[in-house]
Amino acid sequence: MTQPRKRVAVLISGRGSNMMSLVEAARAPDYPAEIVCVISNRPEAPGLAWAAAQGIATVAIDHKAYATRVAFEAKLHTAILDARGELVCMAGFLRMLTGGFIDRWRDRLVNIHPSLLPSFPGLDTHARALDEGVKIVGCTVHLVRLEMDTGPIIAQAAVPVLPEDTPETLGSRVLKAEHRLYPHALKLFASGQARVVGETIQILQSVNQDTALFSPSF
Ligand code: GRF
Repeated sequence: MTQPRKRVAVLISGRGSNMMSLVEAARAPDYPAEIVCVISNRPEAPGLAWAAAQGIATVAIDHKAYATRVAFEAKLHTAILDARGELVCMAGFLRMLTGGFIDRWRDRLVNIHPSLLPSFPGLDTHARALDEGVKIVGCTVHLVRLEMDTGPIIAQAAVPVLPEDTPETLGSRVLKAEHRLYPHALKLFASGQARVVGETIQILQSVNQDTALFSPSF
């Protein structure tokens, strides 16, 4: 018996390119999740208009209209429930969430971050990576915990840093990897092939052991 597809709400604040990659992936009939709703805290977010044009339910919840974070999050919670969302994927969602919301969606709230966590949590990851001179960077899809950019890691992708990189060129190389990683990670998680065990994620599919990224390459 095939399992029903997991109903996913995606939270965005802007361009929404990661949300688009999830929507595109979920078009495949055998993908284990469907995007039932896209929610933005910024009504003018370009990603919101794109999602609406795809026929996906969209909700704008302008955080500036709410006196407190808790009031904003109560509305967010209701919007997800109205769409019968079972999982929530943050994709460039730029609001800090309180412990109340994070607890309510514990192990059902997913985020993508443009670094190989636990390295470079927070903002300006690419500029900081260049300053440190690291030779490999990447991106991480993880479950959300109270402390920013922490939580059980579902999947990561690594990309090389090139000598001539700027934060912008490095960022666009990482973003390309994000667009492949997020659909892959959501597929693993929604299908149950990635499952929470304590504070880590156990992966039930086999991993290719004979692969390595060298940077510089040779
Ligand atoms: C991505 O780099 C994501 O990792 C970070 O914010 C950016 C959002 O880009 N959290 P987009 O809105 O998905 O295009």
